[in-house]
Amino acid sequence: MEAGRLAGWSGSTATHNSSMHGDLSSSIIRGQVRFIKPRHVLEIGAGYTSIFLLQALKDNMIELQKFQKLQQQDKCGIPLNESYMVPQCVADEVDQRVQPAMLHTVDDLSHPGQTADKVKQIAKQLGSEKHLTLHVEDAWGFAEKLDEEVVLDLIWLDFGAGHRLEEFLERWWPRLNSKGGLLMIHSSLTNAITRKFIAKYQMPEAEEKERLGDYEIFGLLEPHKRYQNSFSIFQKRSDAYLEPIYSMGP
Ligand SMILES: C[S@@+](CC[C@H](N)C(=O)[O-])C[C@H]1O[C@@H](n2cnc3c(N)ncnc32)[C@H](O)[C@@H]1O
Repeated sequence: MEAGRLAGWSGSTATHNSSMHGDLSSSIIRGQVRFIKPRHVLEIGAGYTSIFLLQALKDNMIELQKFQKLQQQDKCGIPLNESYMVPQCVADEVDQRVQPAMLHTVDDLSHPGQTADKVKQIAKQLGSEKHLTLHVEDAWGFAEKLDEEVVLDLIWLDFGAGHRLEEFLERWWPRLNSKGGLLMIHSSLTNAITRKFIAKYQMPEAEEKERLGDYEIFGLLEPHKRYQNSFSIFQKRSDAYLEPIYSMGP
């Protein structure tokens, strides 16, 4: 229940099942979403982490609305002294991202300990339901159903894809934002099947490079645990994508 308590939201504990959430990836996911301000997130396997994703999307909107207001008042800057303000807002980014972002979460309710069926009700209680689209169905047929206009900024893979990870990648990689979109895979580092899959992409042959284009991978491990202890992140960086440079000084 530790992670449930850390969340600090009544209701998040109702989706907590210690056989599925022994680690702190929910906190990392929440921080990531707060940081990268995604417009569309896909989660495969709904439940506890959905609540963190939804809260982060809601908090993002509140933050972006504040930025937009400051921008409209010409006050969006960091004050250096009384007479000089360093411009802070990236106007286009604020305007584009201020719309309600969406979590598309998919679950077929097949796990006996699933808590996906509680997500809608808790999202309502927490006021984050406008960011939620819950799809109760099998994940493997879902790629064809998600509106083809949707570009995913974050994919959170939290179900047992196991030997079908390659198939998962094939379906969803093309849907990921090529300018830094993230694919985050749960329980990736100390499981033999997932580890083999990750290793293949860490030392890619020409064939993988050709297929996926540029990307980066890293993973984090909670070293004191045997299960539910890690995640790996692929960042897609196609077409020589680079972040913009906004400042020149040291
Ligand atoms: C490890 S749980 C994690 C769920 C959620 N992210 C959480 O934090 O509670 C995996 C979930 O995937 C769902 N699941 C398993 N196989 C699935 C499939 N083929 N399609 C859709 N959902 C599936 C299960 O019902 C279960 O709720």
